[in-house]
Amino acid sequence: MSKQLEQEINRRRTFAIISHPDAGKTTLTEKFLLYGGAITLAGAVKGKKAKHAVSDWMEIEKQRGISVTSSVMQFQYENYCINILDTPGHQDFSEDTYRTLMAADSAVMVIDASKGVENQTRKLFKVCLLRDIPIFTFINKMDREARNPFDLLEEIEQELGIKTCPINWPIGSGKEFKGVYERQKKTILAFTANNGQKEVEAVEADINDPHLEELIGKEHRDTLVDDIELLDGAGDEFDLEQVRHGKLSPVFFGSALTNFGVEPFLEDFLKMTTPPLPRHSDQGEVDPFDPNFSAFVFKIQANMNKAHRDRIAFMRICSGKFEKGMEVQHIQGAKKMRLSQPQQMMAQDREVIDEAYAGDIIGVFDPGIFSIGDTVCAPSKKFAFEGIPTFAPEHFSLVRQVDTMKRKQFIKGTSQIAQEGAIQIFQELGGGMEEVIVGVVGTLQFDVLEYRLKNEYNVDIRMEGLPYQYIRWIENEDLDPKKLNLSSDTKRIQDLKGNHLLLFANEWSIRWAEEHNKELRLSEFGRS
Ligand code: G4P
Repeated sequence: MSKQLEQEINRRRTFAIISHPDAGKTTLTEKFLLYGGAITLAGAVKGKKAKHAVSDWMEIEKQRGISVTSSVMQFQYENYCINILDTPGHQDFSEDTYRTLMAADSAVMVIDASKGVENQTRKLFKVCLLRDIPIFTFINKMDREARNPFDLLEEIEQELGIKTCPINWPIGSGKEFKGVYERQKKTILAFTANNGQKEVEAVEADINDPHLEELIGKEHRDTLVDDIELLDGAGDEFDLEQVRHGKLSPVFFGSALTNFGVEPFLEDFLKMTTPPLPRHSDQGEVDPFDPNFSAFVFKIQANMNKAHRDRIAFMRICSGKFEKGMEVQHIQGAKKMRLSQPQQMMAQDREVIDEAYAGDIIGVFDPGIFSIGDTVCAPSKKFAFEGIPTFAPEHFSLVRQVDTMKRKQFIKGTSQIAQEGAIQIFQELGGGMEEVIVGVVGTLQFDVLEYRLKNEYNVDIRMEGLPYQYIRWIENEDLDPKKLNLSSDTKRIQDLKGNHLLLFANEWSIRWAEEHNKELRLSEFGRS
């Protein structure tokens, strides 16, 4: 292996930022980019009213008003080359959001200090757990009234089932926010609110400094001393091995908006997280430092140009180096090919690139041959990466074409859109394709489906919401679903590969099914 290859891969850090909408993910991302010099003025990239951050790079989607993108940004900080994977929230929440996490080596979880663990964080966290990736917690908005920090940690531990280790500790919050105590350095980073001005200077002071009381007040000093004693005595100790296996989450308190605690967080985080990790394949683990190129497709972005059905396939490079024009092998298609128009995101811009390394994400032109989870590797190699699981949709509709003469286009359209991973389609057991059950993770995908079928396939559809909330794959291979004893509001369905599934109206029905069919094994994730 060449020294240069080793160095390039070693300095890569590829992580996703997860949070519930409004916790401050965009603001934090922006500050990271600011430190990396990738943008010059924080806030410049985000007019909140328009609600478009740097990561919303797809102009065409903005025009359409629908964004199905989860984007990637690369920037340099000190000697690190950082890839941030954005996980879209709000209405844009979709299966893509989950899949993006499959491409990351670690995750930063942003939590609003006044709200604690929220619904979307919970969902995203579950997906992180599938791969035991390291999770770093940034408790944001300390400049606003916050909940008790001990309660917040307890909530994370109880609700998410991960141990926590605070790296710093907040002193007050809201108007009384005085800064944080850095546990390892045993110093205080003081926060000075300066009316209206958004950036604040951090001042360092030793905990034993006699002037400390002047800086934070006697009451805060006393509370801090008590808190630290409690933490040192009863808290989980920092253990890098546990962090790297996703068992212990280092916790940082700060305020992204006022830029307080962001750079120390970034620095510690970069030191604690790992360079690209090995990935499982059907031929064993693939070492990122193996000079042979390999990658897998984790996202397909459809129809950038309506006139041509072209798509962009986003790949996470898992080993070696990618060079523009190189010959690669598409394993699932059993074809040799060259990846054309390779691009990478650099903050605001998309650039055609000449080379990329393990850990990087590239987007390549896809003439319609790739599927989510596909492997691309050096021609001399033959292995397939472990697939990306299919995530349980949460909303379901019965969809049929208005004009029965358009049956062929309807089947083609829904199948292609499903292949790109925007929706999942199911049928009644033994049913045909005249009507399909469409499942989505975020309801916006129903609009995307309707829009695209009309615009690209010239098919009008009728959609009828179904009252199901949960879907589960039946894991037992030889079980006849017709023989299951189920509550009357449970529906038996199959996917296009013939796997059997059940649709449930509520959690009670799931429990009912499990209690009345002892052998039944249900899974929230489908095999790919
Ligand atoms: P998101 O990407 O997770 O959805 O959150 P985003 O960064 O857009 O932040 C949501 C709101 O929270 C924004 O306010 C943002 O300015 C604010 N915010 C983020 N970090 C902090 C913080 O550390 N302290 C405080 N006080 N506020 C924070 P907004 O009013 O919705 O938008 P804007 O008009 O301020 O841009």
